Amino acid sequence: MNQSQNQVNKKILLAIGGGIAAYKSADLIRRLKERHFDVRVVMSQSAKEFITPLTLQALSGYPVASDLLDTAAEAAMGHIELARWADLVIVAPATANVIARINAGMADELITTTCLATEAPIIICPAMNQQMYRNQATQDNLANLAKRGVTVWGPASGSQACGEVGPGRMQEPQEIAQQVELFFAPKLLQGQSILLTAGPTQEAIDPVRYISNHSSGKMGFAIATAAIAMGANVTLVAGPVNLPTPAGINRIDVQSTQEMLNAVMLNVDSHQIFIGCAAVADYRVDKIAEDKIKKSTHDMQLALIRNPDILATVANHHPRPFTVGFAAETQDVEHYAKDKLIRKKLDMIAANDVSNPELGFNADQNALKVIWTDGQQDLPATDKQRLASQLLTLIVDRITFSQDHQQ
Ligand code: C5P
Repeated sequence: MNQSQNQVNKKILLAIGGGIAAYKSADLIRRLKERHFDVRVVMSQSAKEFITPLTLQALSGYPVASDLLDTAAEAAMGHIELARWADLVIVAPATANVIARINAGMADELITTTCLATEAPIIICPAMNQQMYRNQATQDNLANLAKRGVTVWGPASGSQACGEVGPGRMQEPQEIAQQVELFFAPKLLQGQSILLTAGPTQEAIDPVRYISNHSSGKMGFAIATAAIAMGANVTLVAGPVNLPTPAGINRIDVQSTQEMLNAVMLNVDSHQIFIGCAAVADYRVDKIAEDKIKKSTHDMQLALIRNPDILATVANHHPRPFTVGFAAETQDVEHYAKDKLIRKKLDMIAANDVSNPELGFNADQNALKVIWTDGQQDLPATDKQRLASQLLTLIVDRITFSQDHQQ
C-alpha cells in the first residue's frame, strides 16, 4: 500500500502559540498537507502578531479560530467539536506560557481549552528562550505533561531569535511532519525483530589513520526509526556516524568490518529480518601499524586483504532471516543490483544511484530501485524517512506473499 494512502483523512489540529517560531507554522501546514493530512488551525491571540490567520487559512483551506468567544467561528465549528474532530493535536510552537497553562488545565482561551477537551493524543513542540526552557518551572511542567501521556518533540538546540544559543528551537517543520507520518504508521511489523547495519566501517592503517567511505548512515537510521514506528524491535549495528540514536532502538557501535560481522552474527538468530544498509569496507589493511607511520620522501604501498561479506554470511546462515541488501552504484544500477541479488542469495535488494549528488550518500533524499527474485518496484526520490517506510512496507508485502504461498 502507498504510504500516503494510510494518512488520507487523518485530521491534525495545529495549535499555534505566540512565539517567533510561529512563522514556521505556514511551512508546517504545507508539509503536512503534502503528506495528505487534513489540517485545521487554532491560534492564540499573540500568535496573530507573528503570522496572519489569512495566511494559515489559505494554506490549510479552513477558517482559523483564535477566539473562544467568537460567535461566527463557534457557529462554523465550535471549540468542543474541533477538539473531537482531531485525530492528533499538535501544539507548535508551544511557548513556556502555553505549556504552563496546558499543564494547569486552564480553559480561558482556545488552545488550552482544546487540549482539555480533546481525546486525541497531544504533541507539544516547545519553542522558547533557552533559559526559559531550562528553568525548573518549564521542566516540571513538561515532565508533568509527559506523565499524563502528552508527547514532547524537541526542542532542538542552536542559535535563537533572541541571539542566545541553546535548547529551545522548535523542531523544523519537515522533521515534525515526518514524525507525524511515523506516528500514524500502520503497525505492520508488530512482533517482528529487525537487525540492521548502517553507516561506513573504518579500517585502521595505524593508530591515527584509517580507510573509510562517504556513508553518513542516514538511510539506515531512517529505516531503524521507521521500523520502530511500525512496531518492530530493532537492533542497529552502526559504524562510526554522527547521528543520534532513535528512541527505542538497541544500538551497537562498531568500527571495523570484522567488528560489525561479529555483532551481526551474535544477534542474527534472534531476528526475523536482516537489512544490510552499511557501506562496508571491502578491504582492510593486512598489518595495522602499532605506531603512527612516519612519512618519508618515498611513495608507500599498503597491502590490503579482503574483508568478510557480512550480507553473504547472513544469507548463508541457517535458519536465515529475510535478507535485504543495498547496492550503491554509479552506473548500470539495475544490472549490478540483480547480479548482487543472485550472487549473494538475497531475498531483496534496494539499489540506488549514487552518481547523483542530490541523492544517496550524505543527502537527505534518496530514490531506490527495489528488486526481488520475480519482481521489482521503483521508489521515486523522496526524503529518506519516507523512503524507509516504503521499503519496509515492501518487505512486509514480500514476507506475507511468500508465507501465503508456502501454505
Ligand atoms: O559493497 P557491495 O556493493 O557488495 O554492498 C552490497 C551490500 O552488501 C550492501 O547491503 C552492504 O551492506 C553489504 N556488504 C556487507 N559486507 C561487505 C560488503 C558489503 O554486508 N563486506
